[in-house]
Amino acid sequence: MRNNSDHAMFPEATHDEQSAQSFIKTLRVFTTRNFHAGNNAIIAEKLLSQRPDRACPSRKEMRDALKGEPHNQWWSSMMRTTQEALYDTVGPSIERQLPELIDRARSFRGKLGSLTLDESVEMPSYLTAVDIHCKPGSYQQEMTEDDVFAGAEFDRTFRLYSMGGLGPNLDDMGHTLVAWMKGQFGNARPRRILDMGCTVGHSTLPYCDHFPDAEIHAIDVAATCLRYAHARAVAMGKEVHFSQQNAERTRFDGGSFDLVVSHALLHETSRQAIRAIHKECYRLLAPGGLMIHMDNIVPDKPFEKYYCDWMARYNNEPYMGALQEEDMVGICEQAGFERDNIQLGEGIPQFQDKPAEEKPVNGYLVVCARK
Ligand SMILES: C[S@@+](CC[C@H](N)C(=O)[O-])C[C@H]1O[C@@H](n2cnc3c(N)ncnc32)[C@H](O)[C@@H]1O
Repeated sequence: MRNNSDHAMFPEATHDEQSAQSFIKTLRVFTTRNFHAGNNAIIAEKLLSQRPDRACPSRKEMRDALKGEPHNQWWSSMMRTTQEALYDTVGPSIERQLPELIDRARSFRGKLGSLTLDESVEMPSYLTAVDIHCKPGSYQQEMTEDDVFAGAEFDRTFRLYSMGGLGPNLDDMGHTLVAWMKGQFGNARPRRILDMGCTVGHSTLPYCDHFPDAEIHAIDVAATCLRYAHARAVAMGKEVHFSQQNAERTRFDGGSFDLVVSHALLHETSRQAIRAIHKECYRLLAPGGLMIHMDNIVPDKPFEKYYCDWMARYNNEPYMGALQEEDMVGICEQAGFERDNIQLGEGIPQFQDKPAEEKPVNGYLVVCARK
């Protein structure tokens, strides 16, 4: 796995910082490789083998079956510990170079695309109630003027967290969604595209390459991430219009987009917000336009569903468990889409630098509706 992105905003690491970060990443790889399979086996033996139809157990059944198992306790402890250590290791390194990163971001401001911040945008309570992902200060903490800390830290920690599975520019979710869309709607040529919950734009930038004639917008509620996202896009030569807006109620005109997408946004919202976001997508789309959300929704895959439940409880992603039981088709219908224009699919990751036997068997759930 390449440790560093090539763009000019990517935070540096000294030899010792790099070495500590690589150690944490290796520990996570070790934990997932060696422990996931064991938990799978426990679920298979204790639950699936008792069911003639091998139907996927509920989250509670799996939680109850695994909670006293030493194997699971080791796994759980290692996952939480490495998650916290990820931020403990990367955070001080970013803080050390923060003034320089802020200066660099200022020098990129307005060179390509745009950045529009709006102090009146309130942070939704589902993002402020806990430090999401155990990331201190979550996505939105502002420590100083023109802060880019949360964005820079996200870029570096996401690289370690994803353990090389998202490609050198961490853009695989964007490529995966586009690949799925092209498979279903080969002739779609969106001219105005909106990416909701873009964080630092990892998944946004692929749209610049796939649809070079389109006008591309990306929104998030977190200003610190957006400042970094804009500077990163300029550094990579990509034209994107970033703005601070809540996906539940944006300031864009109704009917002004022909493609609205999100990547891993839904699981970080709430039961109420996910419905509002779908309604907002419907309002934003022009007739014939497409809404496509991609996320970790795996109601029929036992271990993956257990993992989502675990993340809700121990990785500070509170809605990720309950999201598994949501009726996504029903939510699209309530938002205004017609049943015949709604489909669920599976986005298959496009990038892997792992050997074939280690490739994840799972893709993401794709929730798609045409207005
Ligand atoms: C897991 S991250 C998304 C990652 C990103 N889409 C990517 O592909 O790299 C979730 C992001 O959604 C943002 N977010 C959560 N709720 C939001 C809302 N209602 N409106 C806009 N952004 C939101 C968070 O601030 C965070 O940056």
